[in-house]
Amino acid sequence: MSTLAKLHTIPRTPLAHTPTPIEPLPNLGKYLGSGVLYVKRDDCTGLALGGNKARQLEYYFGDALEQGADTILITGAVQSNFVRMAAAGAAKLGLTCHIQLEERVADAGAEYRESGNVLLDRILGAVMHTYPKGEDEAGADANLQAIAAELRGSGKKPYIIPLAPGHPPLGALGYVCAAAEILDQLADAHYQIDEIVVASGSGNTHAGLLFGLRALDSDITVTGACVRRDREAQLARITTRCQEIAALLETESPVQRQDIQLTDDTFAPGYGHLNDATHEAIDLSARLEGLLLDPVYTGKSMAACIQRARESDPSKSILFIHTGGTPGVFAYGRQLLSLQKQ
Ligand SMILES: Cc1ncc(COP(=O)(O)O)c(C=O)c1O
Repeated sequence: MSTLAKLHTIPRTPLAHTPTPIEPLPNLGKYLGSGVLYVKRDDCTGLALGGNKARQLEYYFGDALEQGADTILITGAVQSNFVRMAAAGAAKLGLTCHIQLEERVADAGAEYRESGNVLLDRILGAVMHTYPKGEDEAGADANLQAIAAELRGSGKKPYIIPLAPGHPPLGALGYVCAAAEILDQLADAHYQIDEIVVASGSGNTHAGLLFGLRALDSDITVTGACVRRDREAQLARITTRCQEIAALLETESPVQRQDIQLTDDTFAPGYGHLNDATHEAIDLSARLEGLLLDPVYTGKSMAACIQRARESDPSKSILFIHTGGTPGVFAYGRQLLSLQKQ
């Protein structure tokens, strides 16, 4: 039986517009004097402005509907793209969505708290909750459990999309599928790719993609750009995620320890805080390619991609996964403008 045989038996609700395009980034490649750069436009998945979470949510909503849920609960940072897209998916499927926003970014101003994703959460009709800590995934999940218990008491059928590891990483399956999509597109377009660079946060995108590629016998290097925690902590997380995906698919993991590549060179000073490399990446992508990146995820992962392109032999080609996050631009508007060169 193939490694991915079980994948197609797991409930999935279509939400994402796929396949998303793969486009060359010729001006950026020329500016950097690097090999050929490409971008996979997962910011174009649809679902209230798009992003990687659309593919992940297809599996969570598939499971929720299978269980007869009428209410979705999800937790994330104040500017979480995941919760925004969960609110959109719930609205589309006629479910109620409860969102819990965690305090992960210290000293955030009014724009961060009111614009960008938060504004969209409200427009999408989500029921809002707050959680005072930002670095307590198990606590945030436990608080969702408490809200779910209350909802159950009033006759609702809640479904929790969990944050902390230790739950089947259903969302990662969206990126196991994306691996097949990418390999098909590369073959059709005759693009040769040596390395993929992708943001690595909860790890579902990174682990799913890596698992899918190796299961499909591709040896393309996958470099995860740390956006949430340092390299060492993320390494442990991706290792666990790959084992959890294997358990979910009732198979052996095709991912070896040396397959898990990570960089945290563009992560400091921490989650949700800009740095010079990220600002340069946002600037270059916008001005040379008309490509919008956000400060929290895609700006940092593109900064890592630029670093890899600068360090690598010019014969190497790199595919950057644009994971969305565009509403974050508005939450950081003042900061971005204050850094802007004329
Ligand atoms: C825009 C964007 N890119 C990347 C990520 C990281 O993806 P993952 O959590 O699957 O590692 C997130 C996570 O919230 C995100 O919102």
